[in-house]
Amino acid sequence: MSAVLKGVAQSALQNIAFVPMQAEDLDAILILEERIYAFPWSRGNFTDSLSAGYSAWVCHAAGGMAGYAIIMMVVDEAHLLNISIRSELQRQGLGTMFLEHLCAVARGHGAVRMFLEVRASNRSGRALYARYSFAQIGRRRGYYAGHSGREDAIVMKMEL
Ligand SMILES: CC(C)(COP(=O)(O)OP(=O)(O)OC[C@H]1O[C@@H](n2cnc3c(N)ncnc32)[C@H](O)[C@@H]1OP(=O)(O)O)[C@@H](O)C(=O)NCCC(=O)NCCS
Repeated sequence: MSAVLKGVAQSALQNIAFVPMQAEDLDAILILEERIYAFPWSRGNFTDSLSAGYSAWVCHAAGGMAGYAIIMMVVDEAHLLNISIRSELQRQGLGTMFLEHLCAVARGHGAVRMFLEVRASNRSGRALYARYSFAQIGRRRGYYAGHSGREDAIVMKMEL
C-alpha cells in the first residue's frame, strides 16, 4: 500500500471530517481514483476543477483519506461531478454522509436543485442516488467511454 494511503483504520466511521480539497491532496486522490474507476479522471480534470473554483472536498475518516467529491455551482443549480469513496470503506454510510454534506454546501450557496450523471451500469451509484431521492430525468446516449463501445449516462435531479 502506498504511504499516502496508509492510516485509514477499519473503524471508518470515526473522526469523520469533510475538508476543502487542496492541490496537495491530488497525489492521494489520483491513487484512489485509479483504483475505483475503470475510466478514471486525469490529474488535469482535478486541477481544472480546483482552478475553476468548483466546490471540491475530501472526506477524512479514522485519520486517512476516505473519499473526495466535487460539485459545480451554476446560479441556483448544483452539479455533482464526482463522488468517490475508497473501495474498502464503501457501504458503511460514508457516501450518504458525504452527499448530505454536499447538499448542505450547495444550499449554502443558494442552490435549489442538484443534478448529476451516472453510468447506466453503476449499480452502487444509482442505488445511493435513488435512496437519496434523486429522480431520473433523462438519459444521454453514449456519454461515457466503455470497454465495449460507449455507455449511456442516466441524468438525475433532486430538489434541495
Ligand atoms: C457510490 C458510492 C459513492 C457510495 O458510497 P458508499 O459509502 O458505499 O455508500 P453508503 O454506504 O452510504 O450506501 C448508501 C446506500 O447506497 C446503496 N448502495 C451503496 N453501494 C451499493 C452497492 N454496491 N450495491 C447496491 N447498493 C449500494 C445502498 O442502498 C446503500 O444503503 P445500505 O447499505 O443501507 O443498503 C461508492 O460506492 C463509490 O465510491 N463508488 C465508486 C465511485 C462511484 O461510482 N461514484 C459515483 C459516480 S456517479
